[in-house]
Amino acid sequence: MLITIPDLLDPRTLAECRNRLAAATWIDGRATAGPISATVKNNRQLDPTGRDAIEIGGEILAALHRDPTFLSATLPLRILPPMFNAYGPGESFGIHVDNAVRNAPGDPTRIRADVSTTVFLSDPDEYEGGELTIETPFGAQSVKLPAGHAVVYPSTSLHEVAPVRSGERIASFFWIQSMIRDEGERTLLFDLDQTIQDLRLRDGEGDPHAVRLSFVYHNLVRRWAET
Ligand code: NI
Repeated sequence: MLITIPDLLDPRTLAECRNRLAAATWIDGRATAGPISATVKNNRQLDPTGRDAIEIGGEILAALHRDPTFLSATLPLRILPPMFNAYGPGESFGIHVDNAVRNAPGDPTRIRADVSTTVFLSDPDEYEGGELTIETPFGAQSVKLPAGHAVVYPSTSLHEVAPVRSGERIASFFWIQSMIRDEGERTLLFDLDQTIQDLRLRDGEGDPHAVRLSFVYHNLVRRWAET
């Protein structure tokens, strides 16, 4: 399941993130890649232990926790600290799969990456190329979203960032360990929750069908969730 989340960042947060990133120091992206990924990774990243990454990442985490679509799509148990990358002309990240298990800098807690998120911080007209292409059971899907919008997709997917031909593509990316490990179960819960929200909007909070479906939803979460 590939889900786009419009306006994950409000205009003020987006502007603040972009201003800070414009003044930040970038390092070689291979510093945080595994040995296989390092051979296809050609970009720049913020030092994940630096003040910029930690503080801007904190703003993004706060926005995630306010976004009902993000929470419904990912059902997060743990979220790794957001990281940041930049691609200029000729930079790209060839096809790869992300590491299955990671930990935050300085924290030995191991976190399984179930869901990957990219938050676009540059607008599509600021760079040429740079599409994020994700292999799905229904073929490859290319994603290039307005600044402040995000895409959420299973971390099990092969994916790549096409070479940037001009301009600069800046994004934040991070991984989530979901309470629901199984992608199929997570997708069903998302679809069910979205239907319940639609019913509540259409027929009001007390709609008996929404109440029944939310009973099913919560009992499926109870059955499937790891906490
Ligand atoms: Ni990746």
